[in-house]
Amino acid sequence: MRTIRDIELAGKRVLIRVDFNVPLDESGKITDDARIRRSLPTIEYALAGGARVIVASHLGRPEGKVVPAFSLSPAAKCLGDLIGKKVVLADDCIGDAALALTRAMGNGDVVMLENLRFHAGEQKNDDEFARNLADLCDVYVNDAFAVSHRENASVVAITRHVPDCVAGFLLKKELDYFEQAMTHPKRPLAAVVGGAKVSSKLAALENMMRRVDMILIGGAMANTFLTGAGINMGKSRVEPDLFDTAAHIIETAAEKKIRLLLPEDVVAAPALAAGAPTIVVPVSEMPADQMALDIGPATIARYAKALAEAKTIVWNGPMGAFELAPFAAGTDAIVRAMADSAALTIVGGGDTGVAVHRSGRVDDITYISTGGGAFLTLLEGRPLPAVAALADAEMKNG
Ligand code: 3PG
Repeated sequence: MRTIRDIELAGKRVLIRVDFNVPLDESGKITDDARIRRSLPTIEYALAGGARVIVASHLGRPEGKVVPAFSLSPAAKCLGDLIGKKVVLADDCIGDAALALTRAMGNGDVVMLENLRFHAGEQKNDDEFARNLADLCDVYVNDAFAVSHRENASVVAITRHVPDCVAGFLLKKELDYFEQAMTHPKRPLAAVVGGAKVSSKLAALENMMRRVDMILIGGAMANTFLTGAGINMGKSRVEPDLFDTAAHIIETAAEKKIRLLLPEDVVAAPALAAGAPTIVVPVSEMPADQMALDIGPATIARYAKALAEAKTIVWNGPMGAFELAPFAAGTDAIVRAMADSAALTIVGGGDTGVAVHRSGRVDDITYISTGGGAFLTLLEGRPLPAVAALADAEMKNG
């Protein structure tokens, strides 16, 4: 895959598609600028190479309408502070004003386009919208791994209209680490899978069964597995239509000699509430009026021991309702086990990334993905449309 390193940048208008879909608080302040920081190597490299840098992103889901709360203005300010340069925000990502602004740029200037999703064409992968974006630039760089699973105009259709299309450093790094972990792993390869629903992780579980040596399951999805295995999980959240599927996954793991670990004890409460009274209970003794909200201490110890044996660990999905302190210990323990391990450790974005960032052990993890949905798509073994589009453009343009 060609990267920004392989092209001439001086004097070129270089449109860098980033994913600055960052969390904002009620006053519009960015609460976590990690995604912006992670695109800096590409942006700074382009600037150092004398490019005229046009930064494009979406924010939130404004559904094709101009929604001021989803303006990229806080991101433009944040980027400007980080690179120590003025970042001019174009009021609209396409149209005459954006064209005039980008044509008037000098080398080393930075313009950020307003939210791409203020136009319905973005999420419809509309060719006309993509052409209008392409008119702004000479070179297109995709550094937006986190949205590369979407068939959107700024990551797919645009590659048909810009002669030079390459990957940025972040996109390349995401794909390289993923490949290192899942395609050519040092074994044993362990997958830690959590989160609320088996249904949203089913395709990933099925794909991972072809690759991993052990799977450690936690989060509410473990309840569906335990119930599928004949254990009564009280009031816990379960997906009854997936009991058979879960049981089948357990059987397949046994046939393939994959170690599949399920919680043996849980932290339970009558309801998902911060102040609810909690108990620690073996899953075989789950009371009818309690719901499992985290893995328990015996499970933590067993999971930590298993992870200490792994040479590669991939993690997606929290072990419990970690956003509430009484149910955070299981997720925190997985962070610790990964951080203390000498294995190659890869963490998916979304909630799982948040858990690691909160723990202060970021530097002890080999790689934390910026992508939630995009990371899951890779775990499912499916191609990312934006990456396929870059490859097609490279074939076509040589
Ligand atoms: C994300 O935050 O996962 C990406 O920016 C994609 O956003 P979306 O789920 O709204 O497409």
